[in-house]
Amino acid sequence: MTRHLLTIDALSDGELLEVLDLATAPLDPTLYEDEPVALVFEHPSLRTRAAATVAVHQLGGWPVEFTGDEIGLDARESAEDVARTLAETFAVAALRVRRHGVLERVRAAAGGLSVVNLLSDAAHPTQAVADVLTIAEAHAGGDVRGLAGLRVGYVGDATNVTRSLAVALCRLGASVVVAAPPGYQLTPGGPEDALALGPALRLVSDPREAARGADVLYTDTWVSMGEEAEARRRREDLADYRVDEALVGLASERCVVLHCLPAHRGDEVTDGVLDGARSRVWRQVFHRRTAMLGVLAWLKGGG
Ligand code: CP
Ligand code: NVA
Repeated sequence: MTRHLLTIDALSDGELLEVLDLATAPLDPTLYEDEPVALVFEHPSLRTRAAATVAVHQLGGWPVEFTGDEIGLDARESAEDVARTLAETFAVAALRVRRHGVLERVRAAAGGLSVVNLLSDAAHPTQAVADVLTIAEAHAGGDVRGLAGLRVGYVGDATNVTRSLAVALCRLGASVVVAAPPGYQLTPGGPEDALALGPALRLVSDPREAARGADVLYTDTWVSMGEEAEARRRREDLADYRVDEALVGLASERCVVLHCLPAHRGDEVTDGVLDGARSRVWRQVFHRRTAMLGVLAWLKGGG
């Protein structure tokens, strides 16, 4: 059966662990031998593009990159026809899209094509895999099965990154508290539904509640890609949700700070925190590639 990664939610618990285990297993440099892999970007990307491109090469394949403008999903031709076209040349297509529904349509239109979400407005599952690897390394000696009881606080706009992170961590036994102002909090439903996970996830409005005693503090941009027109209002609404030294001071002594990046220094996070001793953001970047190796190996049935 063709495997896909559109959300963490769509993975069974066993499949999530399989992806995580493969990410740190010795890689098989022949797994994608001479195989082209399509990488499509409707939005800009540095980390995801670097991770995916290098991971494909490391597994013996070769990436073929397309920008959204070149392909024109639903502009030059329908997403379905793009999918059918890709399926004639590629077995795997990884896409960063503006609207999550496009990924679902690509998957539905092209039977044998494995589809990977490299970020949509709803989810960022490959980021979540990297985040779990980073957290496990910081707090459990690298054991992704050792996260039970860990307290993770998320502060700021509850984004695509928040949803995939919360689903992954709750599934692995951690507890997650998300602090966001009204209108920026997680909502029920959608393809990456963190709220369906029960009491492991708590939603609050006070950032101090998320930070107090946290083993991990996480934030993301206040203005996600596609929201640029709302930038001014978002900065005003979220001004009290900055991860600064005072907030980190409420966390546990072993707390590490994460951010998917790109960071907007002085907005959602201060220089002092991002560059401080608790920050693990560069290790997160490192794990974007190991996460992609795990995802690509899992698509092939475990490698
Ligand atoms: N974190 C992340 O996805 O970074 P890029 O947008 O640079 O790929
Ligand atoms: N929430 C951000 C994440 C960037 C990696 C965005 O969608 O732009």
